[in-house]
Amino acid sequence: RALSSVLFLLLAVASQGAAAAAITKGDFPPGFVFGTGSSAYQIEGAVAEDGRKPSIWDTFTHSGYSADGATADVTADQYHKYKEDVKLLSEMGVDAYRFSIAWPRLIPDGRGAVNPKGLEYYNNLINELLSHGIQPHVTIYHFDFPQALQDEYRGMLSRKFIDDYTAYADVCFKNFGDRVKYWSTVNEPNIEPIGGYDVGFFPPRRCSSPFGISCDNGNSTTEPYIVAHHLLLAHASAASLYKGKYQAKQGGKIGLTLLCWWNEPATQTPEDIAAAARMNDFHIGWYMHPLVHGDYPPLMRKNVGSRLPSFTAEELKRVRGSFDFVGFNHYGAAYVKADLSKLDQNLRDYMGDAAVKYDTMPFLNLNNQLLFGLKMDFMSSTPWSLKKMLEHLQLKYKNPVVMIHENGAASIADPSAGNAPDDEFRSQYLQDYIEATLESSRNGSNVQGYFVWSFLDVFEYLFGYRMGFGLYGVDFNSEERTRYQRHSAKWFAGFLHGGKLRP
Ligand code: NOJ
Repeated sequence: RALSSVLFLLLAVASQGAAAAAITKGDFPPGFVFGTGSSAYQIEGAVAEDGRKPSIWDTFTHSGYSADGATADVTADQYHKYKEDVKLLSEMGVDAYRFSIAWPRLIPDGRGAVNPKGLEYYNNLINELLSHGIQPHVTIYHFDFPQALQDEYRGMLSRKFIDDYTAYADVCFKNFGDRVKYWSTVNEPNIEPIGGYDVGFFPPRRCSSPFGISCDNGNSTTEPYIVAHHLLLAHASAASLYKGKYQAKQGGKIGLTLLCWWNEPATQTPEDIAAAARMNDFHIGWYMHPLVHGDYPPLMRKNVGSRLPSFTAEELKRVRGSFDFVGFNHYGAAYVKADLSKLDQNLRDYMGDAAVKYDTMPFLNLNNQLLFGLKMDFMSSTPWSLKKMLEHLQLKYKNPVVMIHENGAASIADPSAGNAPDDEFRSQYLQDYIEATLESSRNGSNVQGYFVWSFLDVFEYLFGYRMGFGLYGVDFNSEERTRYQRHSAKWFAGFLHGGKLRP
């Protein structure tokens, strides 16, 4: 008897191992979408061609704020190479390609005249994808805010942004909506206000925090909240336009894309547990709470007080439920401590005194963790954090439909050294996270898509070309910007064609 139960146990363990090893695409729910992605400023190049005008990112890079003084003037040159790229995507076997539209290419002044060459480019790209059986999943706005509107009214600090954004989204729906069935209104609106208006390491470089970054005068204690508020209202305004005017006819879905790293208590003390929960509220609840429950999380209301903008009754009605799916970008976990004076030495070295000075302010607490996250997350594989994130959405936000819009691993490269080393580690990272996605789905999460970030190595903001996430590498030293297939691209192609997750 004892022997047979031991045997049974061994068999059970063995078959579980076999099941995990044998995962294929077919194990995912019907209709589950696999893809990869990019964003306009990071991949297109051709920044001064065919009528495109500058975005705040052009201004930023041309002032030398990215590593090595890098710009995305040419980057991977997808603007000229989209046919070649779609062929690669098609050979890889993706169901979908996520890309963004450059606002300053489509409407170069941010408002008013539509650029026919901009329309032509995105029509060509969309048609090329569709002719290869690849669904276009389009992000309407991904960080490349028109410089003209920044100059005119201080960009997203002004409510005028909401109207101009909505008019821009309208142009997108009207011209591309017959073929685009998945729209994300804005990318990472929970990070852009911090990068651009709090710590100032992103354009338009407004900040007032002493992080050793020299930036223009801003007001870090209020501006990030105002910008985020306007981004949320802009999302809701575009979504309500789409739902009212286009959705019935065009039959697509609309959502937004949040950065969602998981905040894990660094220790199991009640203080650290509470700090991690607070971080999740400030990071994820900031958008998810109004979107699902109406209004900001009670904890944010309490801690931020009058600095947190209010919604009118009409705005709240518009915001609540204004999405068919939530896109989320997940790279890993941040470990949260309540008492920043006890932060790990490496973070203290990185942050200096700033980490200690601001330990009582929840918002700056958020920023400290953000810097911590940026430093650590991209390098380590924590698939459990993806599962916790999905479970969090399931439990706290009524189990929304989720598209994992970004997940991937970075490699550090010396751009002058030519092709980066091969990336078996990336294949493994992606295998771990795809397996975690399937487990979450089996545990009831409504996750319906998974996109590897990124298709190619592209311009990576502050890191220029020193950090790459690409399934394919790009030889940035060659004028042709030659693409080369990495281990991860070969492995992903095998999986997408029906092979085992772990071959
Ligand atoms: C966030 C952004 O959406 C994307 O543009 C960026 O390249 C990756 N995640 C990695 O930082």
